[in-house]
Amino acid sequence: MRRPMVAGNWKMHGTRASVAELINGLSRQVLPDDVEIAVFPSSVHLVQVSAELAGKAVVVGAQDCATEPQQGALTGEVAAFQLLDAGCSLVLVGHSERRSLLGDSDEVVTRKFAAAQSCGLTPVLCVGETLAQREAGETLAVVARQLAAVAGKLGVQVFERAVIAYEPVWAIGTGLTASPEQAQEVHAAIRSQLAAQDAELAGRVRILYGGSVKAASAAELFGMPDIDGGLVGGASLNADEFGAICRAAGS
Ligand code: PGA
Repeated sequence: MRRPMVAGNWKMHGTRASVAELINGLSRQVLPDDVEIAVFPSSVHLVQVSAELAGKAVVVGAQDCATEPQQGALTGEVAAFQLLDAGCSLVLVGHSERRSLLGDSDEVVTRKFAAAQSCGLTPVLCVGETLAQREAGETLAVVARQLAAVAGKLGVQVFERAVIAYEPVWAIGTGLTASPEQAQEVHAAIRSQLAAQDAELAGRVRILYGGSVKAASAAELFGMPDIDGGLVGGASLNADEFGAICRAAGS
């Protein structure tokens, strides 16, 4: 049985004060025990969030890491080693905003994935197609290529210690959610791509859906057989809404 995960991607939002308020709001939520819950604050708030969540069943992740795992001369970057030291256990790699706006290629994403794992962080590999790619019927090919870039270079076994997030680019921050059937089709394809090399591992890997997940749409999405929870952007900035999404992933 895969343990569901709900992860809140706070993106480039928040101040120390608003982050403290959000954590207070989360502390008041009744959160399900059978769901792994994570938040991904911006890097300047990682230490604060780790400290304020100490002793709570919510883990902390970063939104990105450098391609180099260890500290060194790389101005402006944050090493996976430093993220671990700041209290992180997870890190997003290949979020579509980084791929499309900040130039993260499949090769860079693969290096970040490896850097994260080499420090003991669990990478959350984000994959997904644009609207043009979906309309051209390329969805499964695009996602397969993004997954193969990592699996081909590092070996499929690396997914033993990773999470995958399918996030259609056209659904991110747009209010358009993939239908449960559209999402399930891609999740099943991702799992069978891994299963072609290792069926048992494929059965254990968690594949999250992301893209305008709201409390109102969460239960139906999470009810699909290959959807193991969600990566939530906008709605994760509201503690009540995020709490409801977490509960929707519980049994
Ligand atoms: P959204 O973002 O929920 O605001 O669409 C999801 C994400 O980018 O991870």
